[in-house]
Parts: sequence; structure tokens; C-alpha cells
Amino acid sequence: MCAKKLFIAFITITVLLLPGFGHAQQNDDIIVKTNQPVSDIQPTMWGIFFEDINLGADGGIYAELVKNRSFEFYMPLMGWTVKQNTFNEGSVLVHNRMEKDIANPRFVRITKNAATDSLSITNEGFRGMGIKKGLRYDFSVMYRQQTPGINLHIELLNATDKIIGEANVIPSSATGSEWKRDSVSFTSTDTAWKGKLKIRFEGSGIIDLDMISLFPEDTWKKRPGGMRADMIQLLADMKPGFIRFPGGCIVEGHELALRYQWKKTIGPVEERQLIVNRWNSEFAHRPAPDYFQTFGLGFFEYFQLAEDIGASPLPILNAGMACQFNTAEVVPIDQLDPYVQDALDLIEFANGDVTTKWGKIRTGMGHPASFNLKMMGVGNENWGPQYLERLQIFSKAIKARYPDFKLVNSSGTDPNGERFDYLNTSLRKMNADIIDEHYYRRPEWFLANASRYDNYPRNGPKVFAGEYAAQSDRTVSVNNRNNAETAIAEAAFMTGLERNAAVVNLASYAPLFAHIDGWQWTPDLIWVNNLQSYGTPNYYVQKLYSTNKGTQVVPALVNGKPLAGEDSLYASAVIDKNTGDVIIKVVNASGKEKIKGIRLEGIKKMPAQGLLTVLQSNDPSNVNSFDTPQHVAPKESAIIIKGKKIDLSAAPYSFSVIRVKMY
Ligand code: AHR
Repeated sequence: MCAKKLFIAFITITVLLLPGFGHAQQNDDIIVKTNQPVSDIQPTMWGIFFEDINLGADGGIYAELVKNRSFEFYMPLMGWTVKQNTFNEGSVLVHNRMEKDIANPRFVRITKNAATDSLSITNEGFRGMGIKKGLRYDFSVMYRQQTPGINLHIELLNATDKIIGEANVIPSSATGSEWKRDSVSFTSTDTAWKGKLKIRFEGSGIIDLDMISLFPEDTWKKRPGGMRADMIQLLADMKPGFIRFPGGCIVEGHELALRYQWKKTIGPVEERQLIVNRWNSEFAHRPAPDYFQTFGLGFFEYFQLAEDIGASPLPILNAGMACQFNTAEVVPIDQLDPYVQDALDLIEFANGDVTTKWGKIRTGMGHPASFNLKMMGVGNENWGPQYLERLQIFSKAIKARYPDFKLVNSSGTDPNGERFDYLNTSLRKMNADIIDEHYYRRPEWFLANASRYDNYPRNGPKVFAGEYAAQSDRTVSVNNRNNAETAIAEAAFMTGLERNAAVVNLASYAPLFAHIDGWQWTPDLIWVNNLQSYGTPNYYVQKLYSTNKGTQVVPALVNGKPLAGEDSLYASAVIDKNTGDVIIKVVNASGKEKIKGIRLEGIKKMPAQGLLTVLQSNDPSNVNSFDTPQHVAPKESAIIIKGKKIDLSAAPYSFSVIRVKMY
């Protein structure tokens, strides 16, 4: 061999041996085997968890603008200001019907002595009232005449007390003990971020008032007394597989008397008994003394919402135990029956036909069709043998009546430790259907646990990742932020949930909503003020998974192994039998750009390009806000496919979703 040939051979061998070249580089590619599905993905896979925390329901999604409309708060005039010019002009007094077992005993009696016009009551709203220019507002009131002669002048005010809408209510002069309802609608002449509702009393007489209410016209599906449309739209856009409701600790209550009881949340709103919200005083550093649950958003509205947005309902019921962080009150075993009966009756309320007691009630509320309830949680974050003891009684009774019904069981408050190990082991021995795991942890935990489920038993109980959120600070710290770092860590972790859809059948971020002026807990998926709402980077991660769910998991392997943190990269892949797409998800959790080859196997006719959607932020501390709601939001572009290969350049702190048509 001549010297020149020898030199070329030497160079060739050297180059082939260089790291990242030839076979070495090919072996680093993600191989996606589109024709080798490993498991089905449940339609429920990516869902949402709604709890009335952070003004999520009252003051949030429930569009009622009047706070303490029924004067049932501990301080009956909380939220109301009474004004009058002279002492003799009249009075506003809280009365109590003093009837036994009545849900709404209090009302106000307005006494007006003279025909002056200065006696008024003004409601401040939850954190002010968000009022939109040109929108219709629907006022209503229940009243009972004692001495007819008082008319109601309704005024909508902005923060500087300028009138931006007004109307009159002239109550019927008929007296008697029966309560009547009157209503009037009017259009606002201006926008107000912190509006108020004033009722000025004209004339003279004595009148009793209760259930003073104001709703905007533009509720979700324009339902009177309905929900805030912008907030629901954000949920509908996620196309969630299920809605977990109503909690969370709300289910347990601070004490058993204050637990969530679904039967008290249906029927006419004036008959739904209000209770204090357990987040009212939970955190001394975030007090919310005016936080109550009116249940205007009750179980019927919940089922209806789930149906509206195509999600399966997943109610969580009290297991006969109050919050173990608070009183830890337990109901004695021989008094558990009413709790179990509540669970059985809820299934009948959701699914029973008109011949059943509770199905008839649902039909009477305007929904003869079944809500198709198939699963339910017993207990929220309960732990210890006392939980298992109660759970077994629930399970036996529910399975006896509804053998195919699936039950979600609690594994406590944390994804590891003594409480978890005890319950996880016991529940598996008991052959539980679904075990609910919660993780409020630092982003590093989420990254390190992307392969948590790779070795979970395939034949045992299924997992519900029922509450999770990466904490930029520590759990319940007020400094937690919904920043890009936490969103990317969750996206990385979720590749592991997706890859293990054979085990993980449901997952939901928590909490869902927070009002900027009324939150107790952060981080939260969606932030709102009185007129606006925006999704956090974490929201976009959830939405990208949910709207790219697929129907079956397929292998996405590097050197035969899942990509779960090597070089800060994470990947999973699914196919969608309905659309004929393969969907590959790749997370780069590092601050450096990474070039990653993705080879697609099993596609007969490969298209020239796919659709790439990327959520990315160079600065991991970036957040969205009311001013810049799309600062960290997904962007779409085309991605070239060369032969069978995609070269993905994964930007720093990025979550990429690639969709390729297989047929
Ligand atoms: O999501 C906030 C709270 O966190 C839930 O109410 C509770 O289940 C968990 O501790």
C-alpha cells in the first residue's frame, strides 16, 4: 500500500472512531417503533382537579358577583356596607327565621321611616366586581313585604362610586309570609375592575330581603346563574379526560361537621346550606375570613360541566374522616352508614333512571339522561389503619351494588415515606382498583422520578397521579412561582407517566385556579383577576399532553432503554389510531441546546415533514402574567423528515411535541 493510501485509511478509521460519528451517533438516536404498541392509553389519562381553593368557586368560576348574598356568613353583614344620613331614617337589621333544619335562616329587614333616599346597602363583591362595558347584568332578590312602600334602586358603581348601570325593582305590594322573587336586567355603561352593587331604598315601609344576586349575562353557555365563561373555556381547551371534584382537603373539612356533603349542594340555590371554606383560616399568612362555600356550583353543575367539556366525572367523597392535619376527627365505625349511603346515593343521582329516588331528583333538575359516572374516590389525603378500616366498608357496599364501578383509594399525602409505604402495600394486597398518589415536590424531584413507574407492577392496581405540581420554592411557600423551570420539570416527569400508561390511568395538576387578590396556595395552573384569566407555562404543558394524548404507547428508546434524564433529555411516544399520527414528546431540561436524532420505524410512506409544537424559555424563571399571558406559550412550525429521521434541535428548557402522519 502506498503512503497516500495508508494515510487515507488512517484518517478514515480515526474519523469513524470519533465519538458521535457513524454507528456511535446512530445509537444515540431515539428509535420510535410506531408498529409495536405496548399499551393502551385510557381516555381519562390527562384530566383536571378542581377544588374551591384560592377563590376557585365562589369569587371565581361561579359567576355570582355578590358576596354573602344570603347573609349567612359568620358575620352576617360581611361584604355589605350600610349607609344612611340620619339615625331616624330607618334601619337594616339581620333577622333569623328561627326555623329548625332550614338551610338559609338569615335575611335582612329594611325599615324606612321617611321618604328620603339615602338609606342604602352596598356589596363589595369578592375582591370587587369585574364589570364589562355594554354587557347585560341580571339582578335578582327574594323579598317579603311587611309594610309595602319601599322600592329598590339598583346601582352598579365603579371604584370611584360613579354609577355605571342602574335599574329599579318595584316589589309587589302583597303582604304575607311567602317569599317572592323579583329580578331586573340592565346594561353596564362602563368597565370596572373593582365594581360594587348598591341598593338604595326609596319610599317608606318595611321589607325583608334575602338572596341578593347579580350575574353577568355572558356565563358559560349563557346559563342563568352559571359559570365564568373565560375560566371554563381554558378548561375546555385542554380537552381533559376527567374532572376530579370537589377536592382536596375540602372533601375532608377541618372537622366532620364541615365536610363536603354533596346532598347539600343540589336543588334551589337558596336551599343549599353554606359552610365556611376550610381554606378560610388554614394559613395564618394568607387569611381569607370572607371565604365560604355557597355551593352555587354544586354537584349537578359539576356533572353538567364534565359533560359539557367531554370529561369523565371523578368525585372524591369523605371517608368518614376529617382532615388529619387539622382535627383528625373520625366517625365511629358503627356510625359510618350515612357516609356510605351518601356514596351509593351519589351514584344513583348520577346514573339512576327516573324510577329511582335520586335519578328522579336529577331528572327534575332537567337532566333525565345519565351522567355516566364510572368511578369515585373514597377519601382524599387520608392515611393510617383507620382509613383502611373505613375504606373496606365503603368498598364492600359499593362493589356489592355496582361491581364494575372503579374506586380510587388514597395513599396519603406524599409519594414516599412510612404513610405511603403502609398504604401502598396494604392497598395492593387488598387488590385496590386505583391508588391516588400526590406529589408536591421540587423540580429536581420531578426530573429524578421520570422513571418512577417503569418498574411498577403491570397487573396490580392502577395509579392516579391525583395531585402534583413542581414547587419552585417549598410546598405552601408563598414564593412558589409557575415558572418555566417547574413546567419543564413536570413535562419531563409526564413522559414517564405517558410511557407507563399501562399503570398510570389518570393524572391531574393541582391546584387548578387562583385569584390574584384571593389566593391561599401557590403554584396554580390558571391565574385570574376579576376580568381576565391566563394559563401558566404549566397549563400549556398539561394542555399539550392532553391534546396530544394518543390511543397507544409505543416504544421511544435510546440504545434499547427509555430516555429518562440521560444528558437532561426525556422522551415518550404514542400513536393515535383515530388520526393516524405518531406523537413524540421530547423534553430538554438543561440550559443548553441539544440536537437529537429521532428515527421512525414502521411507517410505510413517510411524509416529508411533521408538525412541531414547542414550549420553551431560555430563562427558566420566566412566567406568564396578565400583561404577557403568552410569554411562555407553545409555538408551532413544520419539521423536516429526512428519510426516516428527524433531527430535532431541542432548545434550552424546552418541551417539543412532534406529530407525524403515519397514514
Ligand atoms: O391542592 C391543594 C391541597 O393539597 C389539596 O387540597 C390537598 O389534597 C393537598 O394537600
